[in-house]
Amino acid sequence: MEKKDLDWGSLGFSYMPTSYSYVCNWRDGAWEEGGLTADHSVTISECAGILHYCQECFEGLKAYTTESGDIVCFRPDLNADRMYETAERLCMPPFPKDKFVEAVKEVVKANLEWVPPFGSGATLYIRPVMFATGVVIGVKPATEYQFRILVTPVGPYYKGGAVPISICVSPFDRAAPRGTGNIKAGLNYAMSLQANVEAHANGFAENLYLDSQSRTYVEEAGGANIIFVNKEGTLVVPQSHTDSILPSITRRSLVVVARDILGMNVEERPVKFAEVEAGDFVEAGLCGTAAVISPVGKITNGDEVIEISGMEAAGPVMTKLRNTLTGIQSGEIEGPEGWVV
Ligand code: COI
Repeated sequence: MEKKDLDWGSLGFSYMPTSYSYVCNWRDGAWEEGGLTADHSVTISECAGILHYCQECFEGLKAYTTESGDIVCFRPDLNADRMYETAERLCMPPFPKDKFVEAVKEVVKANLEWVPPFGSGATLYIRPVMFATGVVIGVKPATEYQFRILVTPVGPYYKGGAVPISICVSPFDRAAPRGTGNIKAGLNYAMSLQANVEAHANGFAENLYLDSQSRTYVEEAGGANIIFVNKEGTLVVPQSHTDSILPSITRRSLVVVARDILGMNVEERPVKFAEVEAGDFVEAGLCGTAAVISPVGKITNGDEVIEISGMEAAGPVMTKLRNTLTGIQSGEIEGPEGWVV
């Protein structure tokens, strides 16, 4: 298969239309057969539920080329599970999990020429999305939906990839207790845009959100989860009392990589921002499908600047975690059964 003539190494995290997307509609109370389309536009009613009440959710996963030339995905079953749970919370018809994984395979196979080559540093980003196409004018669930998967080749989400980034504590809150912070709803990202724009304008790559109830605990970064390493070399993973952190597949995989492959101690527990201020952590990283692991060099909270591992280079533990995870994803390191599909 002849690859597209792209400068793979200089791709950013942006969209380009590829050969095919996958599309499947929910009509008359059932998911239709679904299949590939070369049409990358969506035509919907001006009264479609997505446009008014944001009944929408999405996922993110990637396809990689391994050293031996195979094309693989990383744990697509977990994306299927998470989208299922998200859809239920938003009163949308969940997309069947097996059909989700089959659709991912089908759309990747149809776009092989767009899958970046091994060693290029780029990947094929796979974006499943589901939204209300049915008309609603009162606040209620729509009766028609579209599930779609687009794919697009991407480079690093945060500029520089494995280079340390500087983040700031957001003056905004991301998620309320008993809200939607733990599901992958587009609305969670819409309300983070102002915080993002302001953080970027102030020279920060990303926000760090504290819990909205007490502003005491570290939650996540919106575009990614956060993890820490303490002075004893333990991986410390923030948990939420109020279940308002998105369950990142990368974060959950890193817990297994750290504990079972690298033999590290791992603590999954609520983390107070005061621990960050006290200098308890020697490394931090933002982790997610798009972000992979971006080391956090420093965290700014108003006038306070907290050095974590500095802006020079990634710390040793984040580097080891990143190399092991990406090694598993690209087939160079053997990971747990079923992770690479
Ligand atoms: C991903 O990591 O794939 C996401 O969906 C996060 C998004 C902000 C890019």
